[in-house]
Amino acid sequence: MRDAQPQTIHLTDYQQPGYWINTTELTFELQDDATLVTSVLALEANSAVDSQGELTLHGQELELVAVELDGQALDASRYSTSDESLTISGLADQHTLSIVTRIQPDKNTALEGLYRSGGMYCTQCEAEGFRRITYYLDRPDVMSVFTTHIIADGSRYPVMLSNGNCVADETLADGRRKVTWSDPHRKPAYLFALVAGDLLSKEDSFTTMSGREVKLQIFVEPQNIDKTDYALDALKRSMRWDEETYGREYDLDIFMIVAVDDFNMGAMENKGLNIFNSSCVLANPATATDAAYQRIEAIVAHEYFHNWSGNRVTCRDWFQLSLKEGFTVFRDASFSADMNSATVKRIEDARLLRTVQFAEDGGPMAHPVQPDSFIEISNFYTVTIYEKGAEVVGMIHKILGADGFRKGSDLYFERHDGQAVTIYDFVAAMEDANGVDLSQFKLWYKQAGTPIVTAAAEYREDEQALYLTLHQQCPDTPGQSGKKPMWIPVQLGLIDSEGNDMAVNVSPAQNPQGLDTWTNASQVLHFTEEEQTFVFSGLKEQPVLSLFRDFSAPVKVRFIQPEEELLFRLQTDSDGFNRWDAGQQLMLGWIQQAQEGEFELPETARQVLAELLADESLDPAMVSYLLTLPSEAYVAEFSDQVDPHAIHLGRKRVRLAVAMALNEEFAACYQRLESDAEYQPEPEQMAARALKNLALSYWSLASDAGVKKAVSQFGKTDNMTDQMAAMVALVNSGDDELAPKTLDAFYEQWKQDPLVVNQWLSVQCGSSEIGTIERVKQLMEHEAFDWRNPNKIRSVLGAFANQALCHFHAEDGSGYALLADAIIRLNASNPQIASRLITPLTKWGRLVPQLSEKMKAELQRIADEPNLSRDVYEVVNKSLA
Ligand code: TRP
Ligand code: ZN
Repeated sequence: MRDAQPQTIHLTDYQQPGYWINTTELTFELQDDATLVTSVLALEANSAVDSQGELTLHGQELELVAVELDGQALDASRYSTSDESLTISGLADQHTLSIVTRIQPDKNTALEGLYRSGGMYCTQCEAEGFRRITYYLDRPDVMSVFTTHIIADGSRYPVMLSNGNCVADETLADGRRKVTWSDPHRKPAYLFALVAGDLLSKEDSFTTMSGREVKLQIFVEPQNIDKTDYALDALKRSMRWDEETYGREYDLDIFMIVAVDDFNMGAMENKGLNIFNSSCVLANPATATDAAYQRIEAIVAHEYFHNWSGNRVTCRDWFQLSLKEGFTVFRDASFSADMNSATVKRIEDARLLRTVQFAEDGGPMAHPVQPDSFIEISNFYTVTIYEKGAEVVGMIHKILGADGFRKGSDLYFERHDGQAVTIYDFVAAMEDANGVDLSQFKLWYKQAGTPIVTAAAEYREDEQALYLTLHQQCPDTPGQSGKKPMWIPVQLGLIDSEGNDMAVNVSPAQNPQGLDTWTNASQVLHFTEEEQTFVFSGLKEQPVLSLFRDFSAPVKVRFIQPEEELLFRLQTDSDGFNRWDAGQQLMLGWIQQAQEGEFELPETARQVLAELLADESLDPAMVSYLLTLPSEAYVAEFSDQVDPHAIHLGRKRVRLAVAMALNEEFAACYQRLESDAEYQPEPEQMAARALKNLALSYWSLASDAGVKKAVSQFGKTDNMTDQMAAMVALVNSGDDELAPKTLDAFYEQWKQDPLVVNQWLSVQCGSSEIGTIERVKQLMEHEAFDWRNPNKIRSVLGAFANQALCHFHAEDGSGYALLADAIIRLNASNPQIASRLITPLTKWGRLVPQLSEKMKAELQRIADEPNLSRDVYEVVNKSLA
C-alpha cells in the first residue's frame, strides 16, 4: 500500500516536466513466474524548466533490476528509489536511459498496469497504471513515440498485440516468438496497451473519406467469436459518422478491439488497440438485451471518438479529464441520438444526470467539472466529469448552434493536434471561431453544485404579455461557497390552447453584457443574472409555458404548474423531452401523495395515459418512457430527509394503481406489439419491444392473464430482451413459487455464459421483491460469484446497494454492514472497485436520523481500518468530514 499520509494534489501546482521523453522502446518478456520489462528512453531536457539535472520517474510495485545511462550501468550513488519513484541525478540535457524492471501480472488483482484476465495478458494504463509496468514520467503532457517488442511462447500466446502497426514477427534462437509493434503517433503513456493470448478475431475493413483502407479486428476468447458482429458494425458506423459530423478521419492502417472479462471500467481508448470489458462489446440476440446492444453501440463509438478527442488532442494534466471525457460523451450521445430516437436518448441522459449526478453534486464528493484538487485521480472518473461535462459542452452547442460549434471544433483540432491542452483551450477555440465571449460561461467548469432555477410566470391580459421571472442560486459545496450566477441557456416554448407553439417576441432584447437574450435558431433564452424578468409580448391568449426543453441546462427547475397543464403538456408538447418531463412531474406528485395513504389514479390522467398507449403514431420507445414512473432515487432528490421506505411504498402504490386502472389497455398494447419477426437489434424493433415489455410489466402486476403471458414469453423466446423482461416481471410478481422456479430455469439454461449469469445475479440482487440481504449473502457464496471479477461484484453488490433500496436500507443497518464488509475486503485487492462501491454510503447526511447514524457508523468502521488504499481513504474521509 503506501507508507505516508495520502497527499492532496492541486491544479494550481501544475508545472511542466523537467525532461521530455522523445522515444520509448519497450521489451516485454512474458514468463510464467514474472514479466521482465526493458525500457529504453530518449531523454531531452525541457528548456523551459530548470531541473538541475535531476529526474524523478513514477513507479509502483516494481522490482528494479537494472539502470543504465547511455549504455553504462549507472552507479548506485546516482540514483535512489522510494515506494513510488526512481530519482536520477547529475543528468545532462540528452541521454539514453535504460531501465529493467520485473513485475508480477499474475498477482495483479488491482487490474491496473499489466495483468492477467483468464488466460490472457492485458493492460490498463489510464490514469496512472503505466507506472506499474516501468519507471516513467507517467503524466499525460509527456508524449512519446512508442515501439514495443513482445517476447513469449508463441504456441501459448499466438496473438501478441500493441499500439500502432506490427512491423516485425520473428522466432528467436531459443524458440520464443518476438513481435514488434510501432506506433508513429506521439502519445502519453496512459494510452499504451499490450495484449497476449490465445484469441480469435473477426475482421472487416473500412475505407476512410480520403480513400485509405483500414483493417478492423475484434479479438475475443474462442467461445465468444459469435458475439462480435454488432460491435464491428457499430465501429464502422462510428467511423463514418465522425467523418460526416466532425470531419475526423482515422489515422492508422489498423484498428483493433480486444474483449476481456476482468476490467474495472467499461472500455479504454488505447491508441489503435481499444480494450473492452467483454460486457460492453460482446452480443448476440440470444444472450444480449436491447439495452446491452445500445450500450455497446455507445461505448464502441465513445472509445473510437477518443481517437481525436483524447488521443490526437490530449489532456495537459488529470484536472483536465473532462476535456476528453465530457466532449467525447457529448459526441457519443449525438451519435446515439442520430442512430436511434433522439428524444429517448435525451430522456435517458437526463435521467442519469438528475439522479446520479445531482446526488453527487449535492453530496460530500461534489466537485467541479474541472476539479481543483484530488488525492486519487481514479476517484474522479465520475458522472460529474463525464455526464455533467458533456452537458456543459452541449450548452456551448446550444449557444453557438450546430454550425458555430463545428467551426469551433475544427479550430480546436487544427490548433491543438498533437498537443496536451486544457479545458480552457477548448473554450478558447469555440470563442475564437465564433467571436463570442464565454468568460461567464466558464463558471460551469469552476463551480460545483447544481444550480436551482425558480420560475414564476404572470400573464397580463391587458398587455397581451407574459412576464417570466427567473431566479438562480447555486448551493454551497465542500470548499466552495458564495457562487456567482451562471450563463444558463433556457430553451423554451409557449403553447396555445390548441397545443401549438406560439411565436416568441421577447424583451429586453439584450442583457447588460450586450448579449442577445434570445437565440431564434435554437429557441434559447440566455439567462445570465441572479434574477431576470423577460416579457413575451403579442400573446392573444395565456400560453402554457414549456421551460428547459430538450433539458437545455443541467439545473433543478422549481416551477409550479397545475396538474391540468402538466397533463396538457404530456399530451401536446412539441418537445418530446418536455412531454416526458411533464409526465414525470405529474407522477412525482402522485408518489409523494401516495406516501401518505392509498392512491387511486385520477380519471383524467387515466384517459390521457390510455390514449398514449393506444396512439400508434407515436414512437413506442418514447411512450414506454412516458409511462415509466420516476425512480426511487429521483423521488429522493426532492426531500431534505430521505425515508427510502416511504418512497418505496409510495411508488409501489402508484405502480399498482396504474396497473389496475389500465389493465385492459396494457393487455391490448402488449397484444398489438407481439411479433413473430426474427429478432434484429435495430431501432424500430427495439422500440416496439420496449413498449411491449413495459406493458407486460404492468399487466403482470395486476392480473393472472398477464402473469401467464410472462410465463409463456419466458419459455419461448429467441432473444434475451424478451426473456429477461419476462423473468423480471415474474420475479416482481410476488409469487413465491414462480420467482424461484424461473430463476432456477434461467440459471440451468445459461450457466455456461458468464455475461448472462451476471444479468441473472443482478436481477436478483437488485430486486426490491427478492433482493434481500440473505439472498445477496447466498449469492456471494455461489459458484457463479468471483471476488476478482468487477462485473460480478457490480452485479451483486452494486445492484443491491443502488437498486434494492428497501433492503439496502434495512432498519437494523445490516445492508450497510454487508456493503462495508465487501469494501474492506476489496480495499486490499482492487482499490478502484472498492472505492466505487462506497458511493451509496456517502449519502448518510440526507437520510432520516435512524438510518443516517447507522450508515455513518459503517463509514467510520471503514475509516478505522489500517492500510486503506488512497482510493478508499479519500472517499471515506471526505464523506465523514
Ligand atoms: N478513458 C476510459 C473511458 O473511455 C476510462 C477508463 C477505462 C478508466 N478504464 C479505466 C479510467 C480505468 C480509470 C481506470 O472513459
Ligand atoms: Zn472516455
